This record gives sequence, structure tokens and C-alpha cells, in this order.
Amino acid sequence: MSGLFITLEGPEGAGKSTNRDYLATRFREQGIDVVLTREPGGTPLAERIREILLAPSDELMASDTELLLMFAARAQHIDQVIRPALERGCVVICDRFTDATYAYQGGGRGLSHQRIAVLEDFVQGALRPDMTLVFDLPVEVGLARAAERGCLDRFEQEGMAFFEAVRQTYLQRAAEHPQRYRIVDAAKPLQDVQQSLDQLLPELLVLTRG
Ligand code: TMP
Repeated sequence: MSGLFITLEGPEGAGKSTNRDYLATRFREQGIDVVLTREPGGTPLAERIREILLAPSDELMASDTELLLMFAARAQHIDQVIRPALERGCVVICDRFTDATYAYQGGGRGLSHQRIAVLEDFVQGALRPDMTLVFDLPVEVGLARAAERGCLDRFEQEGMAFFEAVRQTYLQRAAEHPQRYRIVDAAKPLQDVQQSLDQLLPELLVLTRG
């Protein structure tokens, strides 16, 4: 595969979607084909699975059900969107991917990382992001931003401890594999965050052309 696979991660309210669009514009200015997508979702079927995952419900969703639905949506997304785009040589910028599964289902729900790794290998084969940007910010700041957006989805209804575990899992993974992760301070004003992205761009362009 000749394209470049970039994933954006971080807790709620980190501004990933805005920054995803910003990054896409910077790549397109260089004449690079970009595919923007997100998880869970990214295809009509995977978006239907997303609705099931995010809708608050009286029936408690078992953590394993949640985990398997995340990977079911991912299998569809990889098959229909990600692999074909990478094979065409595009830069794929994906708002969340498997790091979110380690952070939310692993860190947040407490599922074992080994179990997630088995599904990761099963669904993805050798496919891993080339670069992951973690938009990091204090949990309370992110939750306040998410609350401003209106009614809370099933994940946003979780408490501080859940999101602290999510944040720590991201930071730990980034610390363990510094070559694949870059941490962006998302608590700063948007203009400053975008300046940080501008500073990362040369490195990303080298990867794209490599
Ligand atoms: P968002 O895309 O609007 O941020 O919402 C997606 C939610 O799904 C978010 O709360 C994180 C959660 N999520 C997981 O729990 N595991 C995953 O693997 C992914 C991709 C998302």
C-alpha cells in the first residue's frame, strides 16, 4: 500500500473534527489526495453500527458487545474505505481508530489489552496507522466542551474516572511508541493548536512522499 494512514485521537471535546478538516486543507494545498473519515463509522453500514454504539439505552451494553461492535464497524470501514484509499495512494485521515478501542474499551471499561490485540490482528492484519496525533487535554475541559454541544451520547454520559483512564491510556501508548505518536496540546486556543499542526506538517509530508 502506498498511501499514508493518519489517525486523530483524544478524549471528548478535543476538537478533532475541526483539526481534521484543517489538516486536510493543508495536504490538499500540496496537491495531495485526502480521504477524510471517522470511526466508529465511515460507511453506511458502519454508521448504522455507530448509532447502536452511541445511543443511550435502558439495556446495559455488555463491554464485550461494545468491543465486538467497534471491530465489526472497523472491518467494514477498512474493507470499503481505508484499504482502497491507501491502495490509490491517498492520505487517509481518520477521526479515531483502534487506539480509541485501547483507550475506551481497554482503559475505560477495563477489558484486557491482550484481548483487544487479538481482535486488532484478526480484523486489521498488518494494517496500523503510520502516524497518530493525540489531542490531549484535561478531562474536565473536554467534558465541559462536550456538554456545550448538547445532549450526551452513551460514552459522554460516563464519569470523570472513565475519561481519566481513557486519557492515561492514550498518553501511555504514546510514551511507549514515540515514533508513531505526536501529542498535541488541545487545551490551547484553536489558533495555537493549528500552529502546532503546521509545525508537524513537514514531517507528515516527508512520510507522504517517502
Ligand atoms: P466521536 O467520534 O464523536 O468522538 O464519538 C465516538 C465515541 O466512540 C467516543 O466517545 C469514543 C468512542 N469509541 C470507542 O469507545 N472505541 C472505539 O474504538 C472508537 C473508534 C470510538
